[in-house]
Amino acid sequence: ASPLRIGLAGLGTVGSGVVRMLARRRDGLAAATGRAVEVVAVSARDRNRPRDCDLSSVRWFDDPVALAKDPDIDVFVELIGGHDGPARAAVEAALGAGTPVVTANKALLAHHGIALAAAAEASGAGLYFEAAVAGGIPVVKTLREALIGNEIERVSGILNGTCNFILTKMQDEGVSFEAALAEAQALGYAEADPTFDVDGFDTAHKLAILASLAFGLAPDPEAIHIEGIRSITLADLNAAEELGYRVKLLGVALRTATGVEQRVHPTMVPKHWPIAQVSGVTNAVAVDGDAVALTLVGPGAGGDATASAVVADLADIAAGRGAKPFGIAASALRPAELVAIQGH
Ligand code: HSE
Repeated sequence: ASPLRIGLAGLGTVGSGVVRMLARRRDGLAAATGRAVEVVAVSARDRNRPRDCDLSSVRWFDDPVALAKDPDIDVFVELIGGHDGPARAAVEAALGAGTPVVTANKALLAHHGIALAAAAEASGAGLYFEAAVAGGIPVVKTLREALIGNEIERVSGILNGTCNFILTKMQDEGVSFEAALAEAQALGYAEADPTFDVDGFDTAHKLAILASLAFGLAPDPEAIHIEGIRSITLADLNAAEELGYRVKLLGVALRTATGVEQRVHPTMVPKHWPIAQVSGVTNAVAVDGDAVALTLVGPGAGGDATASAVVADLADIAAGRGAKPFGIAASALRPAELVAIQGH
């Protein structure tokens, strides 16, 4: 079969991780999918920045939208980030041209997911976003495919590696909020604007996507109560420690009598609960279905972990496996509403 030709926009931590992983797993991917999976063209802001991956034989584009429209790519991978601007324009251009899109962009999906899913369905191109939620944890496929036989009651978890890294460092080592954040940024975990991490928006973006998959709702950050970790002090964490708790930033989506409640806030979790022991950049997602309840724990951020999810989507495309982006037709997704908090 002909190779699957990838056009990749954004060559930061995740993008260069994808290029390296596709090279490293070249034979395994070809054996599994029946096709070679090759990066043939890329776009990035700074062409001359040194990067830890081989780009010697790819075509360069300065404009990601031009790359997205290029007729000589079979898939467009968007790793630019941001919910408007070039990322959105490029994804819309690719879908408009009938080219499948793989993205790790949770902000884009949370704000424009329903329109993008509708565009993907209309043009017959797919929209794939395993990497957008909880990095390397395959929770999108878990909800959309593996647990399709379940009525889901609740989806919750630790969905931001940066916040969990900061809270763990502060509580275990007495490191200041600022120092822990600086370390998370240096390690490449934080968003370009870390406000998205520490004020809970990144968790909310991921929760909006999970709630969509679990409950058939249109993703909508406006329907989420959001409180971040910025106001948490070392004194708060010490007090929690003495009382036998760990503080975690949780995202929770829960079916209630009045609708699906969605919220993001710091939570005191009893130390002996498994989720309390999830530390550092690790994420955890607990899914309560009527037949199966499970918790997935794994790396929620970082180049290689997130690349792993991007590559899984590319393998689906190479093998011809498709799914509706949010599991059901975009037109069948119900509006999400801000529901008064009462759940557990
Ligand atoms: N900034 C995000 C995090 C990256 O820390 O989890 C992964 O979405």
